[in-house]
Amino acid sequence: MKIRHPKGLPVLFFTEMWERFSFYGMRAILVLYLTKETIGENPGMGWSNSDALVLYGWYTMLVYVMAIPGGIIADKFLGQKKTVLIGGILIAAGQLTLAVTSEVFFYSGLMLIIFGVGLLKPNISTMVGGLYKEGDPRRDSGFTIFYIGINIGAAVAPLIVGYVGEVYGWHIGFSLAGFGMIFGQLVYLWGQKHLTEVGNYTPSPKIEGTKNNKPLTSIEKDRIIVLLISFLIVIIFWGAYEQAGGLMNLYTKEKINRMIFGWEIPASTFQSVPAIFVILFGTAVAAFWEKRNRKGKESSSIFKMAIGTIIMGTGFLMMTGAAIEAQTSEKALLIWLILSYLLQVIGELSISPVALSFITKLAPVKYASIMMGVYFAATGLGNKLAGLVGEFAQNAGELEVFAGIFVFCVFFGLLLLVFFKKLKKLTHGAENINSEEPVELT
Ligand code: PHE
Repeated sequence: MKIRHPKGLPVLFFTEMWERFSFYGMRAILVLYLTKETIGENPGMGWSNSDALVLYGWYTMLVYVMAIPGGIIADKFLGQKKTVLIGGILIAAGQLTLAVTSEVFFYSGLMLIIFGVGLLKPNISTMVGGLYKEGDPRRDSGFTIFYIGINIGAAVAPLIVGYVGEVYGWHIGFSLAGFGMIFGQLVYLWGQKHLTEVGNYTPSPKIEGTKNNKPLTSIEKDRIIVLLISFLIVIIFWGAYEQAGGLMNLYTKEKINRMIFGWEIPASTFQSVPAIFVILFGTAVAAFWEKRNRKGKESSSIFKMAIGTIIMGTGFLMMTGAAIEAQTSEKALLIWLILSYLLQVIGELSISPVALSFITKLAPVKYASIMMGVYFAATGLGNKLAGLVGEFAQNAGELEVFAGIFVFCVFFGLLLLVFFKKLKKLTHGAENINSEEPVELT
């Protein structure tokens, strides 16, 4: 049976696809540009790997932490629709600023993108939810479709922006990312006629004396404990997974044999591999969990998150294999990298789709609207952690760090599995509020 989705969905789909094109395209070349020597062909900034990963950590953290002010600005002043527009303009301006070869322009460009993504990303996700009335059964598949849009952008960008950036010139790459965002804005403006009902500013009624100051009930307190643990999972998960654009990107450049039929594939090309896997396996992994659920087997969110962390962690066992090989034969086989990304993505698909809706269901009502922002901020902290781990690897050695991530993630996941029944009890049935299994993806 074919389900028809609201006309606003393709508009948001293509806007976010282009926004992610611009984000991931630029991200694919960021550390490569920073570490490239300042002389010779296509010069970079000549930074050390450590310095580049520190900046990368701050940048990828701030883009998502800014979701908190971004959400507040939309809620309190502008509504999501206008906020997304302003965010998109700032991103495009930021990417085009990066196109200029100058340190001042470089930092200004990054700042513009940070503010822009903060305004755009959380609010466009909220708008997708707003296309469906409460209890609309199409909502979950709407989010799944939206996630595919995200990953199409993320898959194509490193191939184009990465190739152009590495081969023809970093600054041409950055400007391509900027043009991507401009396309996104054009789609968004053109599609306004399908978005009349969604993302509008609605001033919250100010009724004196009805401020929700009631103390939290013991059920709410229990749920907050689980909530804090799920934030911890989110931070640890992305802390490992987001090595992709930083440490693993540099490692691919330096230690992975990228020769195929006598042609050396640019390192940035491999940045599209995780997104391609998400597109290929997204529905299969969702279907697996749904089938298990229907059979009455355990598939609560914490359970899925634990399994997801373990599978993602084993991806780093593959990188450990690569690092062992690289010690003896200088460069490691490509297959290690590909298998690592495959396992990481299977893990991602067990966590990312459930985390947000799980968190929103656990949050006490008075905190409900800020949860989207807090969730993105937790992702941001994960990104910062990823940068720190990558920087640490510069002294400790990649082999040790890859092995460490593997051991830590598997141990943490197993620990969650041991305690998941207790944690599930603490949710006091929060997951059963809607009978539908949540598959919201952001
Ligand atoms: N691939 C996801 C995206 O770009 C990663 C992400 C998850 C980012 C959650 C923010 C929050 O949207």
